[in-house]
Amino acid sequence: MTDTYSALVNNPVGGFVAKNLGLPKPVPLDRYVEGAPLIDGAVLVGSAPGGRLGPSVATILAGADAHVDSRLDDEVRSPLGAAGVDAGVWNPEAPGSQRWKGLVFDATGITSSEQLRELWSFFHPTIRRLAPSGRLIVLGTPPEDCTEPRHATAQRALEGFVRAAGKECRYGATAQLTYVAPGAEERLESTLRFFLSPRSAYVCGQLARIGAGKDVPGIDWERPLHGKVALVTGASRGIGEAIARTLERDGAHVVGLDVPPLADDLEKVVSSIGGSAIVADITDPEAPAQICDELQAKHGGVDVVVHNAGVTRDKTLGGMDEERWSLLMDINLSSEERINDALIERDLLNDNGRVVCVSSMSGIAGNAGQTNYSTSKAGVIGMVQSMAPVFAERGATINAVAPGFIETQMTAAMPIGPREAGRRMNSLSQGGLPVDVAEAIAWFASPASTGLNGNVVRVCGQSLIGA
Ligand SMILES: NC(=O)c1ccc[n+]([C@@H]2O[C@H](COP(=O)([O-])OP(=O)(O)OC[C@H]3O[C@@H](n4cnc5c(N)ncnc54)[C@H](O)[C@@H]3O)[C@@H](O)[C@H]2O)c1
Repeated sequence: MTDTYSALVNNPVGGFVAKNLGLPKPVPLDRYVEGAPLIDGAVLVGSAPGGRLGPSVATILAGADAHVDSRLDDEVRSPLGAAGVDAGVWNPEAPGSQRWKGLVFDATGITSSEQLRELWSFFHPTIRRLAPSGRLIVLGTPPEDCTEPRHATAQRALEGFVRAAGKECRYGATAQLTYVAPGAEERLESTLRFFLSPRSAYVCGQLARIGAGKDVPGIDWERPLHGKVALVTGASRGIGEAIARTLERDGAHVVGLDVPPLADDLEKVVSSIGGSAIVADITDPEAPAQICDELQAKHGGVDVVVHNAGVTRDKTLGGMDEERWSLLMDINLSSEERINDALIERDLLNDNGRVVCVSSMSGIAGNAGQTNYSTSKAGVIGMVQSMAPVFAERGATINAVAPGFIETQMTAAMPIGPREAGRRMNSLSQGGLPVDVAEAIAWFASPASTGLNGNVVRVCGQSLIGA
């Protein structure tokens, strides 16, 4: 749907009026186009003394052919040199006119609250030099993996820094935190690539936790899902269609699923991407068996399962009939549990398999008129967290994205007041696109995302509502 306000304030007259009235001016966000470099501009790398991620960051940036700058300190320059990166030098005392597309700071060396000053020291002279759609990224150690209380305290503090910095970023720039468990340094690449690239256009103020995972050599970063089979429920339109197209772009054979009344729409989508269709209502008691039978017979199993199908049936609780509650809960949550159980029972999830769920910001913040929806979407988060160890035992992962305001048929049908509020009340002052949700799902779905398990990442432009 067209965002008329955005179009208006991005012309000279509208921009002038918006500036003088102090109105938000959403800027067009950089989004990924096939074949584009990982990041379109220089990356400034820094580290607190004692950081342990320098070699991983250097190797990743070298592999991505990124243009890298750093200060003169050895802590950063020696791993860059060892990885073959010919980094430029930036001197904060003689700042020049540099701008960076990415600022990456390894904060793993921070072990006390006093040392948090290192954040100020790196970002104070640089945050205003972040280019439009730039990326501010902090890397830390999960507080739960720190043995000393002061170490854990300082690492937990990073979250507040990143969330506040995200709200200060301008012109479509974003901020993210990634906690990397000790021993999981080799698992950083898919997440650092996602957060640096325009694929994470509408993700801001988020944190990802990377833990142990398996070695997955030889990733083709352009087509990481080559040779993989991905099931996407609710694939005939909206976010599901974008997920199907994005996973196909990344190399997967997509099996789209949707309800019988949308069979024709589903067929159009899957045939346009060389995929195949399963026509089923996921609440049908026979659906899990039907899905498993088809995946087994045609593909011998499945690599990626995306639980996207979902509905709203809004009504305040006092006026909500039982059907609105029960049908929604069955579609949005219980059917996903039954499908997961069937896939596990029949051992159809291939090695290094991925389950990715679509929750919602309503499941985090709650929403008036949506007790049923918020319950179901919070339940999806519960399912991800409780099933993460179960899938880990099978060498697989389960994660979720929680979209905020995404421009779809669902949000176009909202009354104008809540619609405009939903669009503007986030750090980027605009709604996201279905492809933004799809890119986050593709990140979790990648075989390289082996250390990500039990994560919930919001795709909401850092909505002011909720955590
Ligand atoms: N649009 C947003 O702003 C937004 C925000 C947060 C979360 N979400 C979630 O994203 C997902 C997709 O939302 P959307 O906006 O694309 O909605 P949509 O209504 O356009 O698409 C939902 C799809 O799910 C399918 N579906 C519904 N019930 C089904 C069933 N019983 N069996 C099989 N398929 C079924 C529908 O037919 C449809 O194709 C949903 O889970 C939704 O809750 C959307």
